[in-house]
Amino acid sequence: MSDTDWIVRPHGPVQTLAENLWFVDAPLGNLDLHRRMVVVRGQAGGLLLHSAIALNEAGMTWLEGLGEPQVLVVPNGFHRLDAARYKARYPKLRVICPKAARTRVATKVVVDEFYGDKLPFEADESVQLAHLEGLHKREGVLRVQSADGHSLIFNDALFNLPHMPGIFGFVYGRLMGNAGGPKVTTITRWFFMKNKKNYRAHLERLGAEPGLKRVIVAHGSLIDREPGEVLMRVAATL
Ligand SMILES: [Fe+2]
Repeated sequence: MSDTDWIVRPHGPVQTLAENLWFVDAPLGNLDLHRRMVVVRGQAGGLLLHSAIALNEAGMTWLEGLGEPQVLVVPNGFHRLDAARYKARYPKLRVICPKAARTRVATKVVVDEFYGDKLPFEADESVQLAHLEGLHKREGVLRVQSADGHSLIFNDALFNLPHMPGIFGFVYGRLMGNAGGPKVTTITRWFFMKNKKNYRAHLERLGAEPGLKRVIVAHGSLIDREPGEVLMRVAATL
């Protein structure tokens, strides 16, 4: 099996958030942990795939019915499992990743641009990618404007896992500090964060922006109740 074969692993159903925003979750092996693909449709009808997951036939029929996949966002050097599969299936996809993730991402797929170089869809301000400040350009945030407000899509720089049972819940969740609600994990603090004051200030700015409807994380539940206040509370822990 190669990185470009269309290998479908188990995944959940498509979930709709807004007229231009969807997501699909898939378990990571046997762990109590999921990965998440977010699908965004630009104003001209093209699709952006954030942390892409290879879907089954019905899922791909749905995806292609939404629009043409045009942009593939690989949101860090570790979320690249299905990136080469998508590029092989849709050779015209433009691949965008955080600048400091390039080396790891480029071992799987050719990188065309970095976060913040230009808008993902030309002249379409409804979809924007930016590096998060203070994180060494290893992680960023995707901002999507919908009719009901805007969404912020984070990757590993913000988690929202509940405490989980069993040995995995104890080691990964409690000992390693990955679970227990919205948080910046210990791993992010140790290995991704360069300047916590700058990350705190960026989270505060994002949290204060009017119209924030929801925060979507890569691992854990969506934050759709008082998302701005939640970002402020997380910022205060830095
Ligand atoms: Fe992750």
